[in-house]
Amino acid sequence: MDKLIVHGGTTLRGAINISGSKNASLPILAASLLTGEDCIIRRVPDVSDTNYMIQILSALGADVERSSGTVRINCAEVMDEAPYELVRRMRASICVMGPLLARKGRCVVSLPGGCVIGDRPVDLHLRGLEALGAKVEFECGNITLTAKNGLRGAEIDLRGTHGPTVLGTDNVMMAATLADGTTIIESAAAEPEVLDLANFLNAMGAKITGAGTRRIVIEGVTSLRGVEHTVIPDRIEAGTFMAAAALAGEGVTLHRVCRDQMKAITAAIEQSGHRVEFNAAGDSCTIHRGENLQGVDLSTAPFPGYPTDMQAQMTALLATTPGISVIKDTIFPQRFMHCAELKRMGADIKVDNGTAIVRGVTRLSAAPVMASDLRASAALVLAALTAKGSTEIARVYHIDRGYEHIDEKLLMLGAAVERVKDR
Ligand code: EPU
Repeated sequence: MDKLIVHGGTTLRGAINISGSKNASLPILAASLLTGEDCIIRRVPDVSDTNYMIQILSALGADVERSSGTVRINCAEVMDEAPYELVRRMRASICVMGPLLARKGRCVVSLPGGCVIGDRPVDLHLRGLEALGAKVEFECGNITLTAKNGLRGAEIDLRGTHGPTVLGTDNVMMAATLADGTTIIESAAAEPEVLDLANFLNAMGAKITGAGTRRIVIEGVTSLRGVEHTVIPDRIEAGTFMAAAALAGEGVTLHRVCRDQMKAITAAIEQSGHRVEFNAAGDSCTIHRGENLQGVDLSTAPFPGYPTDMQAQMTALLATTPGISVIKDTIFPQRFMHCAELKRMGADIKVDNGTAIVRGVTRLSAAPVMASDLRASAALVLAALTAKGSTEIARVYHIDRGYEHIDEKLLMLGAAVERVKDR
């Protein structure tokens, strides 16, 4: 197992390219199951989650080639049972369920367990697929879905107690593309990654309108064709580097971003006293570290609100921002594992009932810390950039799930980062 050692106190300068979005790539890769023709998907980030998805597709029988960021997939012959050994490694593998069911009339996927960011049920996915006519059965930890006579369009409300579901919306939208008749998804997730998937599906010949809003209408078609697609930039990777630049940078520039997808993150960074300057096209931005910094009150919310996937990183930034910040996670109220580790580095944080109260301290100090999930590990890297001394971050496989070559990108910006083998 690798570990990252971050020597705190260097100033970040220069420019990097933001990678393609992990959370857009995963369902788009899965959607290639909907056609027997070749799909070519560009800017798929080289992270372990996309590698797991490619392994799952290969195990299902797909012919997959990957060369740098481009993946070619052919799903001419595929099976309907996803192997447990691969599926269990990544919750997002649940998004093969919708396309497999639509293509094969049956699918077997193992029921994902909880994870460190909280209980992660799939009831809304199943409610949506049942409404399309699928029969749902549970046995030996697996979910079997069958639709012997095919799927039929329906009106479905996908709202759950914590708001809409991103992968649930993706699953129902993918299944509905090949259903008989029209499907209307109410309370759909409006995240940019859902819109990117809909654009991919429409290019394949699907008839989807309203993606990117709370109401998506899908008119079923009889077949879909192969397509080429370029994945949108990763707004969470961009946000993470924005936070790094605000903490430790001097005019760091991020290329290949999308301003419109980053409004809530940009607003939060600016509220804390930093300045973010976009170019006219909105695809590149420079972050200027501020002088008069202040605490921020934040509450995570579905898009266009502040993303839960940027909660931990912002907490790390605010840990050394003067004043009191209040950070509430309404989507995953238990997603505060990073706070215990940040406290070991000297942060003053109290977590209660899905809310972190952060009193900014002048400086953190290095400590051996442990990554507990993807975004928590990014938060520890950020905290380490300005901490006094060298921070050892163990279990960095978490960060490798979703950040493409993060240590190399930080090195390019001048950070002092080493990746070493843990004994
Ligand atoms: N929920 C239910 N029932 C369901 C599905 C979800 O109650 O059937 C609840 C969840 O427990 C949560 C809320 O609804 O409280 C939202 O969860 P959602 O289904 O939207 O999460 P997801 O689709 O499984 C995606 C991202 C996550 C991100 C969430 C929320 C991917 C691959 N994953 O997960 O990304 O946190 O949306 O925006 O797109 C990450 O990248 O670090 C990550 C965890």
